[in-house]
Amino acid sequence: MDLAHVAPGLPTHSVERHWLTVELGARSYSIVIGNGLLGDPATWAGLPRAQTVAIVTNEVVAPLYLQPLRAALAPHYSRVLDIVLPDGEAHKDWPTLNRIFDALLEHACDRKTVLFALGGGVVGDMTGFAAACYQRGVPFVQVPTTLLAQVDSSVGGKTAINHPRGKNMIGAFYQPLRVVCDLDTLATLPPREYSAGLAEVIKYGPIYDLAFLDWIEAHIERLCARDADALAYAVRRSCEIKAAVVGQDERESGLRAILNFGHTFGHAIEAGLGYGQWLHGEAVGCGMVMAATLSQRLGRVSPTFVRRLTRLIAAAGLPTRAPRLGSDNAARYLALMRVDKKADAGAIRFVVVDEAGHAEVRAVPDAVVAEVIEACSLS
Ligand code: NAD
Ligand code: GLY
Repeated sequence: MDLAHVAPGLPTHSVERHWLTVELGARSYSIVIGNGLLGDPATWAGLPRAQTVAIVTNEVVAPLYLQPLRAALAPHYSRVLDIVLPDGEAHKDWPTLNRIFDALLEHACDRKTVLFALGGGVVGDMTGFAAACYQRGVPFVQVPTTLLAQVDSSVGGKTAINHPRGKNMIGAFYQPLRVVCDLDTLATLPPREYSAGLAEVIKYGPIYDLAFLDWIEAHIERLCARDADALAYAVRRSCEIKAAVVGQDERESGLRAILNFGHTFGHAIEAGLGYGQWLHGEAVGCGMVMAATLSQRLGRVSPTFVRRLTRLIAAAGLPTRAPRLGSDNAARYLALMRVDKKADAGAIRFVVVDEAGHAEVRAVPDAVVAEVIEACSLS
């Protein structure tokens, strides 16, 4: 599948734009990756006509990127609304979601209204869910501004809010019309958030592409330094892999579950500590160490492989030791993991990897998981 090509009909003035396609039949859409995209009106050509569009963003991203996006949309749409939400994972909830609906209704937005999700994965997931629900579905565009959102959450149509009892438990599959990854926006990302995004880049190596894992290892210093070429390749290759996986299994009836490598442990860390304590990417980074350790216990990878992945995750600035969730640490992890979306009739299922770059989802006895939790937890 030739996913990367230069877009016909869009200017390629100072920068190269890479266009990838998420192949989903009538719901196929493009991912555009490049520099200087957000403030260029040409980026927004070809989207559906509408009287009103709404940019959904948050109070951190708005001062940085709302005005350039508004200005670039103005030639295409007569009314551009702003919906500015509070920042953070702790606000990925019903009351904040309802603020989107309140604003859309207050401004009498009709079912042609296009929503633009300007921000990280939290804004993207919530805007996508709002788009799926408002008047039974309005179009939306992803404008991811974090590394994590550019390489993962903006692609593939998973939308959700959290429930106090489980991460991303209330949501819908709902694909965007387009994903626009402006690499320039990553310059303002705080270091901790940037490292969190690297976790989702690293993820694609062990589950799908060992050559990409080798490349990440060889370029981790350049990636940490936000070297433009390394970053552009990392975003592009991650999106290619995600597009390929989603194109084969949009609704996670099989293959797509491999994208959750490290996430079962990671979601338990996030929920167990309280959303927002550890960043999602930090929890996934540590979760991958735990999932690799589990894979080793199951005889699929060597201790050398686990050490290699652990070193890479640490080099990306991510935690590799799991937090303790109380005196009944393993039991608490297990209880939290039982509400994971991969769980089947109460049995927790994990993504495990082998050294050939393959991943599969399987149930594992609680006793083995508990052993891994204790081995990986801070003392
Ligand atoms: P986030 O959306 O909270 O963004 C991280 C922080 O960076 C926030 O404070 C945000 O305001 C700020 N920010 C965003 N862009 C910025 C920029 N360019 N400059 C400066 N600051 C900026 O977190 P995230 O890591 O982007 O996303 C995590 C969320 O994504 C989680 O809720 C997770 O569940 C979800 N997720 C979803 C999928 C999916 O497939 N839908 C996949 C992975 C993760
Ligand atoms: N981030 C996991 C998925 O999109 O399936």
